[in-house]
Amino acid sequence: MNVLGFAGSLRRGSYNRALLRAAVELAPAGMTIEIFDLAAIPPFDADQDADGARPPAVEELKRRIRSADALLIATPEYNYSTSGVLKNAVDWASRPARGSPLDGKPVALMGASGGDSGTVRAQLSLRHSFVFTNSLVLNRPEVLVRRAQTRFDDKLRLTDEPTRKFVRQLLEALADWTTRLREGARALSAVSSDSAPAAGTGGPAPGAGT
Ligand code: FNR
Repeated sequence: MNVLGFAGSLRRGSYNRALLRAAVELAPAGMTIEIFDLAAIPPFDADQDADGARPPAVEELKRRIRSADALLIATPEYNYSTSGVLKNAVDWASRPARGSPLDGKPVALMGASGGDSGTVRAQLSLRHSFVFTNSLVLNRPEVLVRRAQTRFDDKLRLTDEPTRKFVRQLLEALADWTTRLREGARALSAVSSDSAPAAGTGGPAPGAGT
């Protein structure tokens, strides 16, 4: 299982980048996590969102999301929401609205902050965006790393054992979730290839057209 991970903070000493590195180390057997650095993704510009005009880093991000079995996202909390860096990457990846690389993609969220909320509001705001993109976000376990400065050593290694355990549980749940979704999709496509829809039924639901 090939998982693409990215963090919504660009700073060198970021706890969220460190959390993602810990996840790479804690991945269960059969799962590989590759990290994509969002530093090269420019601000979203709809004028550049066309074939041949898209910045190369954006094309690469979309290609890597499309080919990944699942996504693992580490979000900081900025002003009760996710970071602009992360939202911007989601905005690029969310186009076209139908058939974007995020459509149907299994996603796991985690996050670290210095305060007591552990990014709960940032994660909820990301979940909100993933409703529109039809991404399939794992509900549990929630990995909310509170008071992050106490969980990492001075080399930014995740040393807090309970947090390591939560990250491991999240990755195991993501593996299970991704497998179940894949099997469900396979079963559904077998059913739909057996029976053509009657006139006026089937096809995409109206809405979400922008
Ligand atoms: C923050 N921080 C913060 N923390 C929090 O718990 N709730 C919040 O709403 C905010 N808002 C916020 C806004 C801005 C602009 C900054 C720079 C910071 C603190 C933030 O969670 C903390 O700096 C984390 O360490 C940032 O994540 P990284 O960079 O360590 O991954």
